Amino acid sequence: MTHNATVPNPKMPTLCPTQSALRQALRGRGVIGFVPTMGNLHDGHIQLMRMARERADCVVASVFVNRLQFAPHEDFDRYPRTLARDCELMATAGVDYVFCPTETELYPEPQTCLVDPGPLATLHEGEFRTGFFRGVATVVSKLFHIVSPDFAIFGKKDYQQLQVIRHMVRQLAMPIEIVAAETARAEDGLALSSRNGYLSPSERAEAPRLYRLLSTLAAQLQSGHHELWQLETDAMATLAAHGWRPDYVRIRRQSDLQPATEACQDLVILSAAHLGSTRLIDNLEVQRPAR
Ligand code: PAF
Repeated sequence: MTHNATVPNPKMPTLCPTQSALRQALRGRGVIGFVPTMGNLHDGHIQLMRMARERADCVVASVFVNRLQFAPHEDFDRYPRTLARDCELMATAGVDYVFCPTETELYPEPQTCLVDPGPLATLHEGEFRTGFFRGVATVVSKLFHIVSPDFAIFGKKDYQQLQVIRHMVRQLAMPIEIVAAETARAEDGLALSSRNGYLSPSERAEAPRLYRLLSTLAAQLQSGHHELWQLETDAMATLAAHGWRPDYVRIRRQSDLQPATEACQDLVILSAAHLGSTRLIDNLEVQRPAR
């Protein structure tokens, strides 16, 4: 994909490192579309920003590596910080403003007031990354207060994150529309992710197996296979047989990520697995036929 396909003369976005600069810049700017990120952008992020550009008078993106959502053993310190390159990409997507606070700007004092998204945050990713969704919900709610967007766009790649944010916005009556964007994939099916850059060449060659597996499961569900537990167990075994360390492969209902009843047709297959030292997640929505 060429990044400058839709914007003939890309204009660099204005950097706003402080809350006050951003609030001032956004005064009277009409419909505001917002894309929160942790930077190290890839085509998936750029697609979200282009979607925002089509619907908004003013597009704001944030670039902030949020310490609150990283466990002590996770990759906070080595998470790539690439703001200059990110800005060039955002220019091609027509982003107007980039909110890029320092840690002291966003967390000037220890953040003891936290947003707990409730039971949804303890499932799946929450089982393996304690406190992750509390960190995400806290920073996203803080960013929402600062940016005051009319809508915000989140990728389905982080499916549970999307559901957690929808839940938070609904329960806390935040006047923000949450727009979901389809997962952007490489030609071989691998979901685009900033963490793909950690993969060695041989791991990168192996990585698309995860999406192929999800696609096979989806086809099995669509052809009427209803032993969900068996499908999940077989998928975990397939990954393990190819050198992965799977955390989970689970078939759940889309609405609340809980086990699906027989009547439920709107399913999602959620997965997370380690390949070498990199943890990949992917998911696929499936509509299965009525029984
Ligand atoms: O998806 C991400 O990149 C992050 O979780 C988010 C939403 C920017 C919050 O830090």
